[in-house]
Amino acid sequence: MAEILVVYATKTGSTREIAEAIAARIRSAAHEVTVLDAADVGSVEPYKAVVLGSALYAARWRPEAVKFLKRNAPALARKPVWLFHSGPLGSDLSAQKAPSKVRELASRIGADQPTTFGGRLTPETAVGFFAKKMAQGSMAGDYRDWDAIELWANNIAEQLVAAR
Ligand SMILES: Cc1cc2nc3c(=O)[nH]c(=O)nc-3n(C[C@H](O)[C@H](O)[C@H](O)COP(=O)(O)O)c2cc1C
Repeated sequence: MAEILVVYATKTGSTREIAEAIAARIRSAAHEVTVLDAADVGSVEPYKAVVLGSALYAARWRPEAVKFLKRNAPALARKPVWLFHSGPLGSDLSAQKAPSKVRELASRIGADQPTTFGGRLTPETAVGFFAKKMAQGSMAGDYRDWDAIELWANNIAEQLVAAR
């Protein structure tokens, strides 16, 4: 059983790719890492630490990520947990405030508020009428900053090594 669980909630795959990049970085620091969709996680009990990330849609987290947080809050409160969300597109990639339910759950489990990473919306990946329209506009593109994601994951890996 892996030591570290990286969980994601996505609609069009870009948050899963961020989760996979984070997992690869933590794994290279000699931790065993499992990456799972939030909807597919049974129990978090076997894991030493958890990273959870959701895509942002209409300023909300994906429902499966919120459900994961709620369902596992008591167990997560006993472990180190890092949260992120991904969404901003275009010229303003500033930090996004998490929805109030997520903020409340983050405080309850003793985790920092989520770190924001840029998102991706392209004509090839957009799903649904509004997304396809948006993907033809000036906000379209891939705004994920892989250096910032790696730096964040590195920091987690270092904290995990220090805690060994
Ligand atoms: C209809 C729609 C609404 C969105 N709302 C937000 C939002 O409120 N905040 C934000 O930061 N990004 C928003 N985004 C951008 C997405 O979060 C971004 O495309 C993200 O990378 C998608 O992640 P996924 O591929 O994992 O589903 C929105 C995108 C669409 C298509």
